[in-house]
Amino acid sequence: MSDGALAQQTYRDTVAASLQDPAGFWGEAAGLIDWFTPPRQVLDDSRAPFYRWFPDGRLNVCFNALDRHVVHGRADQTALIYDSPVTGSRATYTYAQLLDLVARFAGVLRDLGVVKGDRVVVYMPMVPEAVVAMLACARIGAVHSVVFGGFAPAELAARLDDAAPKVVVSASCGIEPSRVVPYKPMLDEAIERSAHKPDHCVILQREQQRCEMGARDLDWKQLMNPDAVAPAECVPVAATDPLYVLYTSGTTGKPKGIVRDSGGYAVALRWSMTNLYGVEPGETWLCGSDVGWVVGHSYIVYAPLLTGATTVLFEGKPVGTPDAGTYWRLIDEHDVVAAFTAPTAIRAIKKQDPQGELVRRHDLSSLRTLFLAGERLDPDTWRWATDHLGVPVVDNWWQTETGWPIATNPVGVTLFDIKPGSPTLPTVGYDVQVLDERGAPVPPGVEGAICIRLPLPPGTLPTLWQDDDRYVSSYLSAYDGYYLTGDGGYLDEDGYLYVMGRTDDVLNVAGHRLSTGSLEEALAGHPSVAECAVIGVHDELKGQVPRALVVLKGGIDLDDEGRRRLEAELVRRVREEVGPVAALRQVDVVDGLPKTRSGKILRRTMRQIADGQEAAVPSTIEDVGVLEALGPVLRGDRTG
Ligand code: COA
Ligand code: AMP
Repeated sequence: MSDGALAQQTYRDTVAASLQDPAGFWGEAAGLIDWFTPPRQVLDDSRAPFYRWFPDGRLNVCFNALDRHVVHGRADQTALIYDSPVTGSRATYTYAQLLDLVARFAGVLRDLGVVKGDRVVVYMPMVPEAVVAMLACARIGAVHSVVFGGFAPAELAARLDDAAPKVVVSASCGIEPSRVVPYKPMLDEAIERSAHKPDHCVILQREQQRCEMGARDLDWKQLMNPDAVAPAECVPVAATDPLYVLYTSGTTGKPKGIVRDSGGYAVALRWSMTNLYGVEPGETWLCGSDVGWVVGHSYIVYAPLLTGATTVLFEGKPVGTPDAGTYWRLIDEHDVVAAFTAPTAIRAIKKQDPQGELVRRHDLSSLRTLFLAGERLDPDTWRWATDHLGVPVVDNWWQTETGWPIATNPVGVTLFDIKPGSPTLPTVGYDVQVLDERGAPVPPGVEGAICIRLPLPPGTLPTLWQDDDRYVSSYLSAYDGYYLTGDGGYLDEDGYLYVMGRTDDVLNVAGHRLSTGSLEEALAGHPSVAECAVIGVHDELKGQVPRALVVLKGGIDLDDEGRRRLEAELVRRVREEVGPVAALRQVDVVDGLPKTRSGKILRRTMRQIADGQEAAVPSTIEDVGVLEALGPVLRGDRTG
């Protein structure tokens, strides 16, 4: 056996061992983390399906991300590089400097009355203060909930009501390539709309656009004055205590609060950084996502810092800030060894620089691997990146719920042959099964529902925020003993997984997960709309974009001009209610929506027609004439 083949067999054996004896595998991995009280028990399955990892362990995640590196000789190593082409600024923070800021901001939160278990919502652009706020919460055992800046006030309000934070941390503005986005008025509007009111808002005033301060607002810089605040020490928490809640979209308008525990997450992320991503302490890593998404939580903030690596915090876009060579400049200037972004970003770069001329202008010799996740990696995009970068381009599949990859090519251990279109093998700890409608595993090559046999490994969601019932009904009730991923796909003869897309009505727009329900709620709130449906259709750049079909209330009869005006109004409405990130551009007024006899709208069938695929028309359709009438609209032969 060659060395490569041996390493691959060893990895497959390790995966098998981790499934056979989870406690043995993760008990050993727990040694990667410093504990105040090391866990004696690894897995508590006494309340299955509510599994708990390291139930008697006590630790502090911020201590593991900062203090221990300062203690062990990394005080002067760069922890974070802030590179912001949109503001023309850069800064570096050593581990000692980052620790100082975090300990001080933790002191600020403590002085504002935040104690262990309290929630703090962070609504910020990609600035170092966002990372400082997250780690400061972890330091005092508070639970952060970061809300992505591209969401509108109504979405923020829904999260404020669910998380009920004592404090909100925000900034005066964010900077998009085309405009300055005032965050503070959106925050004020969200608080106006929400039933829950935070005690205080800590606001970072940015030079690009300052904001007015109100009665509950406090200035970040004033609070952080070393004379005004004493640093806070780390508060030990139980491994099972929540580190954060991150809201993600389900099929309904109500976001799901994904709970992340502390101990299991720290262990899994630290393990993944070296073994899956191949990054060692002291090396520099770039994750081109946003702290508002799970990829940002795990691989901009926690995993690199838990590892003692250097993380690049990039405030900009893959194109237009200033050009499609930005990522290559970052890799070149900061000696990045591995980078991570979404396929959409590469498609955007490829569109502007198809021949890779900007790639060749940079020295990318430090780069060993490019990782892509967040949506399906189409083979064309994979090929372009592979040809131009000359390093392995690795697809990895995961979800907000899991916090780290369910399937990937474990480059830190060994590189398996890449099969374009597949994120390679299920990862250590994940017992991935593809099931048919009755819950039986299907043979290789046959598509079905991708499920994970319980227990899920450490780092994954233990439940939904204050909603055990919804956790069970959303994920665990479809197949007894399994977690339902919501994705469909298949395994091949070699055990490679192929993830083909969502089997529910969740949208994936530019690697961002959006709910059909929240877009539909925004549309349905318009006085002229009787009913509506949103479907995600294929898009060359963003993978998917939403399209809306609306039926008007009886008696409303619009001419072409009136209809166009209403369609534009509805586009604006979704932007204002859900946020610009929804990227809804096309609304069509139609006479009726196709439904089953029980009233379920046939979104999947409509999506297939819009994408030019063979459409599966269920036998339970109520009136096939309605669907036929929609054909030209969906195919784009006729609009309206
Ligand atoms: N705050 C405020 N507005 C935001 C925002 C934020 N943090 N992020 C995005 N928006 C706005 C954008 O300005 C844009 O508004 P517009 O309609 O006025 O132009 C809208 O939301 C859509 O944004 P985006 O999805 O970024 O699309 P884009 O057309 O501006 O850019 C790409 C296209 C491909 C460059 C961009 O989608 C991208 O960088 N994708 C990578 C995705 C990614 O990293 N995903 C993370 C998962 S790993
Ligand atoms: P999110 O929770 O926002 O990370 O979105 C998770 C969803 O994105 C998954 O359920 C998939 O539908 C999709 N997804 C993420 N990564 C991949 C990938 N590598 N391949 C295919 N789909 C992916």
